[in-house]
Amino acid sequence: MACVRNCDLFHQLREPYGDVVRTGPCEETLHLNPAVPSASLHTTPKGGLTLNGIYIPKGTTVVTPQYSLMGDERNFIHPNNWIPERFTTHPELVLDKQGFVAWATRKYSCVGKISLLEIRTAAAQIVKTFDIEFAPGEDGTTMFREALDFFTTTPGPLYLVLKEWKN
Ligand code: HEM
Repeated sequence: MACVRNCDLFHQLREPYGDVVRTGPCEETLHLNPAVPSASLHTTPKGGLTLNGIYIPKGTTVVTPQYSLMGDERNFIHPNNWIPERFTTHPELVLDKQGFVAWATRKYSCVGKISLLEIRTAAAQIVKTFDIEFAPGEDGTTMFREALDFFTTTPGPLYLVLKEWKN
């Protein structure tokens, strides 16, 4: 049975100095699985918009899906591989920082970006309290295969067994 404890990430999250390290796994998770994968629709302003030499008339509905931006090789080296270090010790794996748009960007971006702190705290507390294993019959793929985009991502089921961790 696969045990999350055996992966490097688990050790990294338990590091006492891991404040910076903890950011990597959380941001990389959002990079690979954006909470708002297709993003919302926006309308071009009065006078239209010219992007990369292409004119888009006013009132046109436009959308830039996060999933596409964050999976683009022009923005990330090996964009679909799990590499938390791209957000910590190996920033060269991010070719264009503007390609990381988990909280969207500029005027209409998320007002709740402080949620990153909450996610980091929760993840660290969980892995410091429990050993985590896949439940019998679970292989970790259903949550991705059955994920649905309802503006925010609703993952499929993931069955785990949590046991108290004795340090
Ligand atoms: C992992 C956590 C979160 C992620 C990844 C996230 C992501 C986003 C994204 C991508 C948008 C822009 C949607 C668009 O394209 O229009 C957005 C908007 C927004 N988010 Fe979050 N969000 C998170 C947590 C939160 C929390 C905790 C709050 C509130 C406490 C919050 C409040 C808002 C609000 C109010 C907007 C609308 C902003 C506007 O249109 O002016 N978010 N969020």
